[in-house]
Amino acid sequence: MSNKVNSKKLNIVRYPHSENKSLRAWNSADEYILKHINENEIKVKDVIIFNDRFGFLSSSLIDYSPKIIIDNKSQEKSIKSNITLNKLELSKCEFLTPLDNPNSPIELSIIKIPKSMDLFRLYLNQVSELLESESVIICGFMTKYFTSQMLDIAKEYFEEVEQSLAWKKSRILILSKPKQIKHSSIINEIRLNDNKNIQQYFGVFSAKNIDYATQYLIENINIKETDNIILDLASGNGVLAYAINERKANCEIHLVDDSILAVESSKLNLNGENIHFHYTDNLKEFDENYFDFIISNPPSHFEYETNIEISIELFRETKRILKTDGHFQLVASKHLNLKTHLVKIFSDVRISAENKKFIIYECCK
Ligand SMILES: C[S@@+](CC[C@H](N)C(=O)[O-])C[C@H]1O[C@@H](n2cnc3c(N)ncnc32)[C@H](O)[C@@H]1O
Repeated sequence: MSNKVNSKKLNIVRYPHSENKSLRAWNSADEYILKHINENEIKVKDVIIFNDRFGFLSSSLIDYSPKIIIDNKSQEKSIKSNITLNKLELSKCEFLTPLDNPNSPIELSIIKIPKSMDLFRLYLNQVSELLESESVIICGFMTKYFTSQMLDIAKEYFEEVEQSLAWKKSRILILSKPKQIKHSSIINEIRLNDNKNIQQYFGVFSAKNIDYATQYLIENINIKETDNIILDLASGNGVLAYAINERKANCEIHLVDDSILAVESSKLNLNGENIHFHYTDNLKEFDENYFDFIISNPPSHFEYETNIEISIELFRETKRILKTDGHFQLVASKHLNLKTHLVKIFSDVRISAENKKFIIYECCK
């Protein structure tokens, strides 16, 4: 098989869709990785791909039967739909989560470096024991997002870490000569209060402390006596669901998150027959008028992009699944000015608390 990787004719579409036409489904860092493979005639065999958000790298390398690490349900949908859209063979790929063992030797790893350095470390940790002495990792990133931590983390795992020249505002790191290292812990512990530490896998939202907006929402949770069926929307490590379960044991609590690492983290923090975990990027599986109370610190970022389109779509679905007399409480940074969007969806939107940075809204159908 020729080792030329050709992505020129691909049509890659973003999912979730964005109205912002300037947002693209790949960037020059992805192209630089493929250019480097072609120009240096790197053997593409036993290849594994990390953090391919929409499917550009996976589609470009599909002839080499890549293993593809999937962090998010929306990412999985995007990659699969783009492979199908381009009439490529989906059956050639193998999809794994960041917590799976790829279970076979890896010769070439391709990493689009994520914003979370913990997640970058988790990726290196995942492949580190499967690398041969000749294995190479090619990591791409946009120059403006460079941090010296990328090099520090790479050097923990590899003897040689070479940084390329810039090309179209992007760079690559080439990691070779893997070090013999033992797996390290991939779980962070965060102090919630005197009695409880929250655990979460590397790469999950707010790794060092309970997020300040979340903390503010916990202090102002408005749970009512009549609230028995509850949803923690965009649940991350499950800290909001945990706080609710503490206040009102035995109500039916559901947690929804797009990230498999988030859902698996929340399983470390909550258990019980009343707790239900959902790895999904939408609320379609829930019946209309089902929840008494929905609580959320909703997503406002998509990697480096500020993006509230995803949340607005989730708010529309929230209205459908909320009982007629139910209520939806959410926290957001003031500058996002979510009220202008919420009033278009909900008939009643009130401010239940605010401080200098954050605002808590309470919405009814
Ligand atoms: C601001 S964090 C809040 C996490 C957690 N509730 C907390 O307060 O620490 C937002 C979460 O939204 C999740 N998310 C992003 N898009 C989503 C979607 N379409 N559906 C469900 N969750 C989503 C992210 O994975 C992330 O865990």
